[in-house]
Amino acid sequence: MVANESVIFNEIPKGYPEPGKTLKKVEGEIDLDAPLDNGAVLLKTKVLSLDPYLRGRMRPAEIQSYVPAFELGAPIVNFGVGEVLKSENAKFKKGDHVYGQLQFSKYQVVPKDAAESLVVLENKEKLPWTVWVGAAGMPGQTAQYGLRKIAQIKKGDVVAVSGAMGPVGQVTIALAHKVGAKVIASAGSEEKVKFLKEQYGVERAFNYKTEKASDVYAEWNKEHGPFSIYVDNVGGEQLEAALDHIGRGGRIVAIGGISTYNGQPYGIKNLFHVVAKELKFEGFIILNHTTPEFLKEFYSEVPPAIADGSIPIKEHVFKGLDNGESFATLFDQENSNFGKAVISLE
Ligand SMILES: NC(=O)c1ccc[n+]([C@@H]2O[C@H](COP(=O)([O-])OP(=O)(O)OC[C@H]3O[C@@H](n4cnc5c(N)ncnc54)[C@H](OP(=O)(O)O)[C@@H]3O)[C@@H](O)[C@H]2O)c1
Repeated sequence: MVANESVIFNEIPKGYPEPGKTLKKVEGEIDLDAPLDNGAVLLKTKVLSLDPYLRGRMRPAEIQSYVPAFELGAPIVNFGVGEVLKSENAKFKKGDHVYGQLQFSKYQVVPKDAAESLVVLENKEKLPWTVWVGAAGMPGQTAQYGLRKIAQIKKGDVVAVSGAMGPVGQVTIALAHKVGAKVIASAGSEEKVKFLKEQYGVERAFNYKTEKASDVYAEWNKEHGPFSIYVDNVGGEQLEAALDHIGRGGRIVAIGGISTYNGQPYGIKNLFHVVAKELKFEGFIILNHTTPEFLKEFYSEVPPAIADGSIPIKEHVFKGLDNGESFATLFDQENSNFGKAVISLE
């Protein structure tokens, strides 16, 4: 027997998640020598992703949504990378690193059914494992799908993106620049704005807490003409400003609405622009679009571009499992994650 630890869903939050109440770290034991059932694998967890959508899973089980609610008292689950310690599944061998839905536990046995959806990461690019749940994982796929398939970005577009320092924002910026588009990016601190300008070469970056998105867009449009694509990660007031200022025939890629995830709905007052300006306004859930063809395109482009530096990335790595403090930073208005939030157990 060895010591194991897990993060469990302990209590349904009323608003913001509360460390130690909503999520709680519990100690346990696991027998690493116990025989495995047919098709199962024993993993040592290397990396676990902290994503805003997990807040939506912290709800009463009877409320339906696009992903199931977490089970109270059980470890929470999300994208992660694990090292195979033992395998009774022909797809995996000892030493492989696998990507997929993992429990927030130091060690875990993944049964046959769940193991079928794990994929072996070859990591030819030799990226840190943390990157495979961020820019090279689900959030990066979201950015690529949004810009290419929904917005159908082309040279000459101007892309406004909110939540720009997160992994979706970072990959959006890099892929927009790659096709010769310009970028207006918003984030919630002066440090993030400086980083967006200096490290990502964003044409206009602003702090949405001290500058109004509507003023920034109005000023941009006056100087350069209206922007053509809005990648919406936050919803609320910034979305309303984008609707007011996006150009005719613009495309709004509805990816997320983090400003509303903790129970603060926002009534958008100017949706008629969708009609009057003939906008395309389309949302999607990336988990429903990761076809083999899409993943082939993604994996052949994005991880190599991260490795050669043409998609620059910034991570915020938390060491070890905790009582949900790391998850809570995603929504912390004073001190949020600066880059892709990820837990490393290495
Ligand atoms: N549709 C899909 O399939 C899909 C897939 C992946 C992600 N998403 C969504 O895409 C968005 C970005 O995801 P991500 O992984 O890149 O996350 P992320 O940027 O790491 O999310 C956390 C950040 O959101 C910002 N934030 C928190 N509260 C906010 C508020 N009230 N108003 C404005 N910004 C706030 C904070 O940055 P600031 O300092 O800038 O405020 C914080 O650092 C999220 O809404 C997520 O749910 C959707």
